[in-house]
Amino acid sequence: MPGAAPPPETEVVAIGREIAAALPAPGRHPVQAIDTRAMDLTSRDAELKAALFRFVDVVPACRSVDDLAAHLVGFLGEVDSQTPPLRAAMKMGDSRAGRAALGTAAAAGVKHMARRFIVAEDPGAARRTLRRLWRDGTSASVDLLGEATVTTAEADRYAARCGEALDALTAIYGDVPARPRLERDGVGALPRANLSVKVSALTPLLKPDAPAMGQRDAAPRLRELLRHARDTGAHLHVDMESYDSREAITDLVIDVLSEDEFRDGPSAGMVLQAYLRDGGELLDRVLAWSAAHERTPPLTIRLVKGAYWDHEFVEARQHGWEPPVWEHKAESDRSFEALTLRLLDARPAVRVAIASHNLRSVAHAIAANRASGGDDAGLELQVLRGLGDDLGHALAQLGHRVRVYCPVGDLVAGMAYLVRRLLENTSNESFLAEQARGAALDDLLAAP
Ligand code: 2OP
Repeated sequence: MPGAAPPPETEVVAIGREIAAALPAPGRHPVQAIDTRAMDLTSRDAELKAALFRFVDVVPACRSVDDLAAHLVGFLGEVDSQTPPLRAAMKMGDSRAGRAALGTAAAAGVKHMARRFIVAEDPGAARRTLRRLWRDGTSASVDLLGEATVTTAEADRYAARCGEALDALTAIYGDVPARPRLERDGVGALPRANLSVKVSALTPLLKPDAPAMGQRDAAPRLRELLRHARDTGAHLHVDMESYDSREAITDLVIDVLSEDEFRDGPSAGMVLQAYLRDGGELLDRVLAWSAAHERTPPLTIRLVKGAYWDHEFVEARQHGWEPPVWEHKAESDRSFEALTLRLLDARPAVRVAIASHNLRSVAHAIAANRASGGDDAGLELQVLRGLGDDLGHALAQLGHRVRVYCPVGDLVAGMAYLVRRLLENTSNESFLAEQARGAALDDLLAAP
């Protein structure tokens, strides 16, 4: 299937430069890389990185700082190449006082990172942040942390929390000042309240070997949420997760939205992951469906690079499969641009949201939208809370329509999310790492 014409390179670079110039001082970096010492280490040493992530995963389950330190030392002990700082940390584990210091520092470190990515414990508590973002000219999508539920009761609880969140968001945005740019595009009105949900939290049965079962089990909860979103005038967005659930999630969304009662709403969306080798085929399916089912409002497609790269890679290697994800960053980046062009071309059957912290990808999308005759209001740009705050702010200042993905929940529910953000931050190949190394703007903006 064809796409919009690639934009002129000179335009992409000019737009990229304009965005970079709009960033706050020191102004070079669109995203705030995590700069703790541990993170520096992790990007250099895959084994240590794995150990630290296993540690982050168990933090919520630790009962005391002593317990925490013991776990940390245990994980670090599995690392073969023992560097001096590592040996020093391990040695602290030998005494009770040492463990207390180590455990306290580690707990504070994890909490500190969490506070950066997680807006609040519940949507009500996120009120101030969400309203401030709105006043500053950016909308939000709230993500209730929690995924991979294991019981029906948990799935019911998650669905109930989502319902409560829709009500809370409706109240939070009820009396904010009008922001025309955020509330309407060429197609029509855009809901202020916007909630992102994960299907793995809506059913305990989302298993790769029996996709239909998870789909069947999640459907009633998703339907209920769609009704709730329609009744409150909110937007409901279904996130994409790991590769083995993408068919089930796609089928679920498409099937439920095809039902008569959802023909005229609510506003709803799904996600396309550019790091998937078969991302284009998935898009073929979704676009064929959109063309056949003229929904009002049209389906919003959020294009992302994809957050489960490490998981997919390790999983495939363990089974001796070819990874379903592109191995090199440039391949994912090229895929991102190709999918951007196709999505822009598919309008008005879909609404397009470009979610990236990669300055080049964002500039390319803006340039392609303009080259296709679209105005900036027709394109949504999304960033993640804690990583893309400065970029989002700069884009909004330049007149773009920006949405910030805002996770809400507690540390326990947020751990998997936190680990994904850390992996993103510490990948040697990531845009963030390139930036942190001080790559020149021209290099960051060059075609992948
Ligand atoms: C994630 O949960 C942002 O949806 C993405 O990692």
